[in-house]
Amino acid sequence: MSTDIRRGLTGVVVDTTAISTVISETNSLTYGGYAVQDLAASRSWEEVAHLLWHGDLPDATQLADFRAAEAAQRRLDRTGQEVLRKLPETCHPMDVLRTAVSYFGAQDPTEDLADRAANQAKALSLFAKLPTVVALDLRRRRGQDPIPPDPTLGYAENFFHMCFGEVPSADVVRAFETTMILYAEHSFNASTFAARVITSTLSDLYSAVTGAIGALKGPLHGGANEAVMHMLVAIDDPDRVESWLDEALATKQKIMGFGHRVYKNGDSRVPIMQDALDNLIATHADDRVRRLAEVYTRLQTAMFQRKAIHPNLDYPSALAYHVMGFDTPTFTPIFVMSRITGWTAHIVEQLTANVLIRPLSAYTGPQQRPVPA
Ligand code: CMC
Repeated sequence: MSTDIRRGLTGVVVDTTAISTVISETNSLTYGGYAVQDLAASRSWEEVAHLLWHGDLPDATQLADFRAAEAAQRRLDRTGQEVLRKLPETCHPMDVLRTAVSYFGAQDPTEDLADRAANQAKALSLFAKLPTVVALDLRRRRGQDPIPPDPTLGYAENFFHMCFGEVPSADVVRAFETTMILYAEHSFNASTFAARVITSTLSDLYSAVTGAIGALKGPLHGGANEAVMHMLVAIDDPDRVESWLDEALATKQKIMGFGHRVYKNGDSRVPIMQDALDNLIATHADDRVRRLAEVYTRLQTAMFQRKAIHPNLDYPSALAYHVMGFDTPTFTPIFVMSRITGWTAHIVEQLTANVLIRPLSAYTGPQQRPVPA
């Protein structure tokens, strides 16, 4: 048996997948064989979600059916709403989302793990309900009553409606859809792998998603988008960027929104998201946002000069969500609304050829010894 230790599973190929591929050498990412930048340029978020679950883009009838099924399942039942309202506002919105998925699991005790269609139906139900949870939680923290979902609106429009009581201009909605498409799937990242590990024990889909939410919460993974925003606000002054960065690097801090385990020459998703962010800033920024955007640009330049490290998707996404009007702690829950597609596609794929995921460890503790009398 090999004693080669790959800490963090760096460079280890664990299994096959047909859902997406990340090619670090060419900085490219494809979903079902389609380049993500082409999908972001020409397809709706619902079409991409369908692609990830079913392996191909929907035709017009399939898309209409998909949209109707999603719109019909957005509502939370009364008990679910009460459970979420009882959670302390001191807990993080990711804890609310994790609890919500646990609740949905408790409401659905069906034991049909091997049934692909049943798992896809559960996935669609979560896809439809998570935005309602995120919007309800955003509003309660603002002291506002929830706004029920509007089934006549598309996914993105409805989410804005439930958060703010209005739908913004089409370019803002499209920028939001771009973030959803780009965040949706990324092969064996930490949260997806967590979902696959849980699934590999033949546990249920809700348990796997709950675990994935826990993994995504951390700032080295999905929590980075929230952390980026806190960092930009903390730096605040464009003239302070260089001194702030020098001090942070001198104290060995990780700069949020930079670096990537797989991409070492730039995250393939960043140029698309940067274009969307530039458009948002050009048309929707006030003086405060323009100041933060200057901090953002200078930090990116300084980071490259000092460490030659590129930004990852969380860097432009964070400022984009801020310009769209979302509260900072909501950024990672929005990431969940998107990545639920990738997670559940992987859960279904894991089950089609399951093998228990159980690696080994190299023991470094004391030699075997007698228990003292
Ligand atoms: N700030 C400062 N230094 C960094 C950073 C960073 N963000 N990222 C990498 N480095 C340095 C690291 O310290 C190391 O330097 P040295 O060789 O001198 O020790 C070198 O670059 C190689 O880094 P690494 O630790 O081998 O990289 P990794 O693959 O283990 O870590 C990462 C990847 C994402 C955890 C790390 O880049 C990081 O902590 N970034 C900040 C958090 C972040 O933005 N996370 C989002 C990741 S992408 C989206 C997602 O998955 O959700």
